[in-house]
Amino acid sequence: MKTEILKILRENSGYVSGQELCRRLGVSRTAIWKTMQQIKADGYEVEAVPNKGYRFVREPEDLLNESEIKSRIALEEIGCQVYFKEEVDSTNTWAKKLAEEGAPSGTLVCADAQTRGKGRRGRSWESPRGSSLYMSLILKPDILPLHASTLTLVMGLSVAEAIREKTGLDAGIKWPNDVVVSGKKLCGILTEMSAQMDYVEYVIIGVGINVNRKEFPKELSDMATSVELELGHKISRADLAAKVMEHFEKNYQIFLKTGDMSVLRSDYDKVLVNRNRQVKVTSPGGHCEGMALGINDKGELLVECSDHEIREVYAGEVSVRGLYGYV
Ligand code: BTN
Repeated sequence: MKTEILKILRENSGYVSGQELCRRLGVSRTAIWKTMQQIKADGYEVEAVPNKGYRFVREPEDLLNESEIKSRIALEEIGCQVYFKEEVDSTNTWAKKLAEEGAPSGTLVCADAQTRGKGRRGRSWESPRGSSLYMSLILKPDILPLHASTLTLVMGLSVAEAIREKTGLDAGIKWPNDVVVSGKKLCGILTEMSAQMDYVEYVIIGVGINVNRKEFPKELSDMATSVELELGHKISRADLAAKVMEHFEKNYQIFLKTGDMSVLRSDYDKVLVNRNRQVKVTSPGGHCEGMALGINDKGELLVECSDHEIREVYAGEVSVRGLYGYV
């Protein structure tokens, strides 16, 4: 009920009467009053005026919990269920367990801190409390397993779009899916899948965004940044999470129609920081240096190498000149 009340009060700048809340939620005035006390205890300033009703005066700066996220999401599939924990080992590991237990496609899990946050290539993802977004989305798409890795690009694009819209920052993508601002990494994405040869059981897209984080360990400070460091002030993590999901739902529907990046390619290329820049590729197919041209329909990075041959890079590490210390 907290989620619904938050949603209704946020949608209305004026007063909403107790009677109206009772009618819309089908509960008693006492139940509304009790939930309102919980909302106030969370740090909301709520004005209650006799014969007028309730109104938000001020929302807490950056509260993150299930109701905060859910009350901001009104999408078809994405965010159909939202789970939150103060602390978890890894939201990806938790999401996998839920997916195996039958959680529906679109379920979103989120935590305030991770004790064993996972990064790509077996690295760890530093996940301190109270400052960032650690979330994982469960998807059960009807696509071939070989198309699933493209979802990581779809999420990268959605995060970049959400950051741009919410903060005005010039967020770009370092192929395939790091979101960068001012040449430093702001977000990492780890996609994991469980599949049969021709059938996807589930895909977990894990997203870590540095939001209200002021400091990074010395070894990361040249390579990592946060929304707060770039903007100079905090933003609501719940708002940003909802905005990412909004963009993802839109882009996911487009992706599902073709199972590739053919329609999203031009939007992706617009924010691709590798584009028209010198890159170094270390991939299973060997090393090469050249000019990145953009992606193809499959989401592979096109690199024109010194021999003028255009390589399609589908996996591997790509360093971009000017980013993360590659000079
Ligand atoms: C990377 O190495 O760039 C990917 C980092 C992905 C981190 C996120 S945080 C939420 C989710 N849970 C995890 O354990 N990892 C991902």
